[in-house]
Amino acid sequence: MARITSGVACSHVPALGVASDQGLTNDDYYGPIFKGFEYSRDWIAKEKPDVIFLVYNDHCTAFDARVIPTFALGCAAEYTPADEGWGPRPVPVVKGHQALSAHIAQSLILDSFDLTIINEMEVDHGLTVPLTMMFDRPDEWPCPVVPLAVNVVQYPAPLGSRCYALGKSIRKAIESFPEDLKVCVFGTGGMSHQLQHERAGLINAKWDEEFMNLLVNDPETGSQKEHIEYLREAGSEGIELVMWYVMRGALNENVEEMHRFYHVPASNTAVGHLILENR
Ligand code: DHB
Ligand code: FE
Repeated sequence: MARITSGVACSHVPALGVASDQGLTNDDYYGPIFKGFEYSRDWIAKEKPDVIFLVYNDHCTAFDARVIPTFALGCAAEYTPADEGWGPRPVPVVKGHQALSAHIAQSLILDSFDLTIINEMEVDHGLTVPLTMMFDRPDEWPCPVVPLAVNVVQYPAPLGSRCYALGKSIRKAIESFPEDLKVCVFGTGGMSHQLQHERAGLINAKWDEEFMNLLVNDPETGSQKEHIEYLREAGSEGIELVMWYVMRGALNENVEEMHRFYHVPASNTAVGHLILENR
Protein backbone atom coordinates (compact mmCIF):
# COMPACT_ATOMS: atom_id res chain seq x y z
CA MET A 1 0.00 0.00 0.00
CA ALA A 2 1.05 3.63 -0.39
CA ARG A 3 2.24 5.34 2.78
CA ILE A 4 2.98 8.89 3.86
CA THR A 5 6.34 9.09 5.57
CA SER A 6 7.12 12.79 5.79
CA GLY A 7 6.03 16.39 5.33
CA VAL A 8 7.76 19.52 4.10
CA ALA A 9 6.61 23.08 4.77
CA CYS A 10 8.15 25.71 2.53
CA SER A 11 7.57 29.34 1.49
CA HIS A 12 7.30 29.98 -2.25
CA VAL A 13 8.82 33.46 -2.65
CA PRO A 14 9.05 34.01 -6.44
CA ALA A 15 12.36 35.91 -6.14
CA LEU A 16 13.97 32.66 -4.92
CA GLY A 17 13.01 31.03 -8.21
CA VAL A 18 14.57 33.92 -10.09
CA ALA A 19 17.72 33.67 -7.93
CA SER A 20 18.03 29.98 -8.80
CA ASP A 21 17.32 30.51 -12.51
CA GLN A 22 19.90 33.33 -12.74
CA GLY A 23 22.63 31.66 -10.66
CA LEU A 24 22.46 34.11 -7.73
CA THR A 25 22.13 31.52 -4.97
CA ASN A 26 25.55 32.26 -3.45
CA ASP A 27 25.37 36.04 -3.32
CA ASP A 28 25.15 38.03 -0.09
CA TYR A 29 21.37 38.35 -0.19
CA TYR A 30 20.27 34.88 -1.35
CA GLY A 31 23.24 32.85 -0.07
CA PRO A 32 22.01 32.54 3.55
CA ILE A 33 18.53 31.48 2.35
CA PHE A 34 19.78 28.70 0.07
CA LYS A 35 22.16 27.61 2.83
CA GLY A 36 19.10 27.03 5.03
CA PHE A 37 17.97 24.38 2.51
CA GLU A 38 21.27 22.44 2.31
CA TYR A 39 20.12 20.02 5.02
CA SER A 40 16.82 19.61 3.16
CA ARG A 41 18.39 18.71 -0.17
CA ASP A 42 20.53 16.02 1.48
CA TRP A 43 17.52 14.82 3.45
CA ILE A 44 15.22 14.45 0.44
CA ALA A 45 17.99 12.74 -1.59
CA LYS A 46 18.05 10.08 1.15
CA GLU A 47 14.28 10.06 1.78
CA LYS A 48 13.65 9.46 -1.97
CA PRO A 49 9.86 9.84 -2.09
CA ASP A 50 8.14 8.04 -4.98
CA VAL A 51 5.53 10.80 -5.20
CA ILE A 52 5.12 14.30 -3.79
CA PHE A 53 1.61 15.43 -2.87
CA LEU A 54 2.06 19.19 -3.12
CA VAL A 55 -0.43 21.64 -1.57
CA TYR A 56 -0.01 25.12 -3.03
CA ASN A 57 -1.89 28.15 -4.25
CA ASP A 58 -2.23 29.52 -7.73
CA HIS A 59 -1.75 33.31 -8.00
CA CYS A 60 -4.31 34.23 -10.71
CA THR A 61 -2.22 32.25 -13.22
CA ALA A 62 -4.19 29.08 -14.01
CA PHE A 63 -7.34 30.54 -12.47
CA ASP A 64 -8.62 34.10 -12.29
CA ALA A 65 -11.74 35.88 -11.04
CA ARG A 66 -13.89 33.94 -13.52
CA VAL A 67 -13.37 30.61 -11.73
CA ILE A 68 -12.27 30.31 -8.10
CA PRO A 69 -12.09 26.67 -6.95
CA THR A 70 -11.56 26.34 -3.20
CA PHE A 71 -9.80 22.97 -3.45
CA ALA A 72 -8.68 21.76 -6.89
CA LEU A 73 -6.89 18.44 -7.41
CA GLY A 74 -4.53 18.03 -10.35
CA CYS A 75 -5.30 14.84 -12.29
CA ALA A 76 -3.20 15.56 -15.40
CA ALA A 77 -0.28 13.60 -16.86
CA GLU A 78 1.89 16.71 -16.64
CA TYR A 79 1.85 20.39 -15.63
CA THR A 80 3.77 22.98 -17.62
CA PRO A 81 5.50 25.90 -15.82
CA ALA A 82 3.43 29.02 -16.47
CA ASP A 83 4.49 32.33 -17.96
CA GLU A 84 3.96 34.81 -15.10
CA GLY A 85 5.03 37.81 -17.16
CA TRP A 86 8.72 37.18 -17.85
CA GLY A 87 8.42 33.90 -19.75
CA PRO A 88 8.03 30.45 -18.20
CA ARG A 89 10.69 29.51 -15.61
CA PRO A 90 13.43 27.36 -17.18
CA VAL A 91 12.59 24.37 -15.00
CA PRO A 92 11.45 20.87 -16.00
CA VAL A 93 7.83 20.08 -16.79
CA VAL A 94 6.18 18.64 -13.67
CA LYS A 95 5.03 15.05 -14.25
CA GLY A 96 1.84 13.92 -12.54
CA HIS A 97 0.69 10.51 -11.25
CA GLN A 98 -2.71 10.03 -12.82
CA ALA A 99 -3.62 6.74 -11.16
CA LEU A 100 -2.94 8.16 -7.70
CA SER A 101 -4.74 11.42 -8.52
CA ALA A 102 -7.83 9.53 -9.71
CA HIS A 103 -7.82 7.39 -6.58
CA ILE A 104 -7.48 10.45 -4.31
CA ALA A 105 -10.29 12.27 -6.16
CA GLN A 106 -12.64 9.32 -5.68
CA SER A 107 -11.67 8.80 -2.04
CA LEU A 108 -11.98 12.50 -1.08
CA ILE A 109 -15.32 13.01 -2.80
CA LEU A 110 -16.78 9.87 -1.23
CA ASP A 111 -15.46 11.23 2.09
CA SER A 112 -17.55 14.41 1.49
CA PHE A 113 -14.80 16.76 0.26
CA ASP A 114 -16.39 17.96 -2.97
CA LEU A 115 -13.31 19.17 -4.75
CA THR A 116 -12.72 20.42 -8.27
CA ILE A 117 -10.90 18.11 -10.68
CA ILE A 118 -8.32 19.71 -12.97
CA ASN A 119 -7.24 17.81 -16.07
CA GLU A 120 -5.17 20.60 -17.61
CA MET A 121 -3.28 23.26 -15.68
CA GLU A 122 -0.15 25.37 -15.85
CA VAL A 123 1.69 25.82 -12.56
CA ASP A 124 3.15 29.06 -11.20
CA HIS A 125 5.81 29.93 -8.60
CA GLY A 126 3.56 28.58 -5.85
CA LEU A 127 4.41 25.06 -7.02
CA THR A 128 7.75 25.39 -8.80
CA VAL A 129 9.67 27.42 -6.19
CA PRO A 130 9.32 24.83 -3.39
CA LEU A 131 10.55 22.16 -5.86
CA THR A 132 13.54 24.36 -6.67
CA MET A 133 14.34 24.91 -3.00
CA MET A 134 14.29 21.16 -2.34
CA PHE A 135 15.88 19.83 -5.55
CA ASP A 136 17.99 22.67 -6.98
CA ARG A 137 18.19 22.56 -10.80
CA PRO A 138 17.82 18.96 -12.05
CA ASP A 139 17.20 18.05 -15.72
CA GLU A 140 14.04 16.27 -14.58
CA TRP A 141 12.21 16.51 -11.25
CA PRO A 142 13.11 13.29 -9.40
CA CYS A 143 9.52 12.08 -8.88
CA PRO A 144 5.95 12.74 -10.00
CA VAL A 145 3.86 15.38 -8.23
CA VAL A 146 0.14 15.39 -7.41
CA PRO A 147 -0.84 19.04 -6.96
CA LEU A 148 -3.68 20.34 -4.81
CA ALA A 149 -4.46 24.01 -5.45
CA VAL A 150 -6.12 25.87 -2.55
CA ASN A 151 -7.77 29.25 -2.96
CA VAL A 152 -6.09 31.70 -0.59
CA VAL A 153 -6.09 34.63 -3.02
CA GLN A 154 -9.77 35.62 -3.07
CA TYR A 155 -11.94 35.62 0.08
CA PRO A 156 -13.57 33.46 1.29
CA ALA A 157 -10.53 31.22 1.71
CA PRO A 158 -11.04 27.88 3.50
CA LEU A 159 -10.56 27.73 7.29
CA GLY A 160 -7.40 26.26 8.80
CA SER A 161 -9.59 23.67 10.53
CA ARG A 162 -11.12 22.63 7.19
CA CYS A 163 -7.65 22.36 5.66
CA TYR A 164 -6.56 20.18 8.58
CA ALA A 165 -9.61 17.91 8.15
CA LEU A 166 -8.91 17.71 4.41
CA GLY A 167 -5.36 16.62 5.20
CA LYS A 168 -6.72 13.75 7.30
CA SER A 169 -8.95 12.68 4.43
CA ILE A 170 -5.97 12.87 2.03
CA ARG A 171 -4.08 10.56 4.36
CA LYS A 172 -6.93 7.99 4.20
CA ALA A 173 -6.98 8.35 0.43
CA ILE A 174 -3.25 7.86 -0.04
CA GLU A 175 -3.02 5.01 2.46
CA SER A 176 -5.75 3.10 0.60
CA PHE A 177 -3.92 3.26 -2.75
CA PRO A 178 -2.84 -0.32 -3.50
CA GLU A 179 0.58 0.41 -5.01
CA ASP A 180 3.61 0.41 -2.71
CA LEU A 181 4.51 4.12 -2.86
CA LYS A 182 6.37 6.34 -0.43
CA VAL A 183 4.68 9.73 -0.37
CA CYS A 184 5.99 13.06 0.94
CA VAL A 185 3.40 15.84 1.46
CA PHE A 186 4.40 19.46 0.86
CA GLY A 187 2.52 22.40 2.42
CA THR A 188 3.69 25.63 0.80
CA GLY A 189 3.28 29.42 0.96
CA GLY A 190 3.68 31.86 3.85
CA MET A 191 5.09 32.92 6.22
CA SER A 192 3.95 36.35 7.39
CA HIS A 193 3.85 38.81 4.51
CA GLN A 194 1.74 41.57 3.06
CA LEU A 195 2.36 42.76 -0.48
CA GLN A 196 0.15 45.83 -0.68
CA HIS A 197 -1.25 49.00 0.89
CA GLU A 198 -0.29 50.57 4.20
CA ARG A 199 1.09 47.49 5.93
CA ALA A 200 3.09 46.29 2.88
CA GLY A 201 6.30 44.69 4.13
CA LEU A 202 4.77 43.47 7.40
CA ILE A 203 6.72 40.61 9.02
CA ASN A 204 5.83 39.09 12.41
CA ALA A 205 8.66 36.76 13.42
CA LYS A 206 7.26 36.03 16.88
CA TRP A 207 3.89 34.97 15.50
CA ASP A 208 5.58 32.89 12.76
CA GLU A 209 7.59 31.00 15.37
CA GLU A 210 4.52 30.28 17.47
CA PHE A 211 2.65 29.21 14.35
CA MET A 212 5.35 26.62 13.61
CA ASN A 213 5.43 25.40 17.22
CA LEU A 214 1.68 24.81 17.27
CA LEU A 215 1.66 23.26 13.81
CA VAL A 216 4.24 20.69 14.86
CA ASN A 217 3.20 19.99 18.46
CA ASP A 218 -0.49 20.86 18.83
CA PRO A 219 -2.14 21.02 15.40
CA GLU A 220 -5.62 20.43 16.84
CA THR A 221 -5.34 23.79 18.62
CA GLY A 222 -3.32 25.57 15.93
CA SER A 223 -5.74 24.66 13.17
CA GLN A 224 -8.52 26.53 15.02
CA LYS A 225 -6.99 29.96 14.33
CA GLU A 226 -9.48 32.21 12.57
CA HIS A 227 -8.86 34.18 9.36
CA ILE A 228 -8.85 37.46 11.27
CA GLU A 229 -5.82 36.36 13.28
CA TYR A 230 -3.85 35.44 10.14
CA LEU A 231 -4.80 38.78 8.62
CA ARG A 232 -3.99 40.84 11.69
CA GLU A 233 -0.81 39.06 12.77
CA ALA A 234 0.64 37.66 9.52
CA GLY A 235 -0.57 40.22 6.96
CA SER A 236 -2.93 39.81 4.04
CA GLU A 237 -0.84 37.11 2.34
CA GLY A 238 -0.16 35.28 5.61
CA ILE A 239 -3.40 33.41 4.95
CA GLU A 240 -1.35 31.19 2.60
CA LEU A 241 -0.31 29.42 5.81
CA VAL A 242 -3.63 27.55 6.09
CA MET A 243 -2.13 25.27 3.42
CA TRP A 244 0.47 24.03 5.89
CA TYR A 245 -2.46 22.53 7.82
CA VAL A 246 -3.42 20.32 4.87
CA MET A 247 0.09 18.87 5.03
CA ARG A 248 -0.05 18.55 8.82
CA GLY A 249 -3.42 16.78 8.72
CA ALA A 250 -1.98 14.22 6.32
CA LEU A 251 0.75 13.29 8.82
CA ASN A 252 0.54 11.32 12.05
CA GLU A 253 -0.33 13.12 15.26
CA ASN A 254 3.19 12.27 16.39
CA VAL A 255 5.92 13.71 14.17
CA GLU A 256 9.59 14.47 14.63
CA GLU A 257 10.85 17.86 13.56
CA MET A 258 14.00 17.08 11.57
CA HIS A 259 14.79 20.59 10.40
CA ARG A 260 13.57 24.16 10.85
CA PHE A 261 14.72 27.25 9.00
CA TYR A 262 13.48 30.81 9.29
CA HIS A 263 14.91 33.83 7.55
CA VAL A 264 14.04 37.49 6.99
CA PRO A 265 14.13 39.13 4.51
CA ALA A 266 13.39 37.36 1.26
CA SER A 267 11.72 39.80 -1.08
CA ASN A 268 8.70 40.92 1.01
CA THR A 269 8.37 37.68 2.90
CA ALA A 270 9.63 35.76 5.88
CA VAL A 271 10.91 32.40 4.58
CA GLY A 272 9.79 29.52 6.77
CA HIS A 273 10.67 25.88 6.27
CA LEU A 274 10.11 22.64 8.20
CA ILE A 275 10.85 18.98 7.62
CA LEU A 276 8.68 16.57 9.59
CA GLU A 277 8.89 12.78 9.72
CA ASN A 278 6.04 10.55 10.81
CA ARG A 279 6.63 8.67 14.06
C1 DHB B 1 6.03 37.46 -2.71
C2 DHB B 1 5.56 36.44 -1.91
C3 DHB B 1 4.55 35.60 -2.35
O1 DHB B 1 4.01 34.60 -1.61
C4 DHB B 1 4.02 35.75 -3.61
O2 DHB B 1 3.11 34.87 -4.03
C5 DHB B 1 4.48 36.78 -4.43
C6 DHB B 1 5.48 37.63 -3.97
C7 DHB B 1 7.12 38.36 -2.28
O3 DHB B 1 7.52 38.33 -1.12
O4 DHB B 1 7.63 39.14 -3.09
FE1 FE C 1 2.22 33.64 -2.68
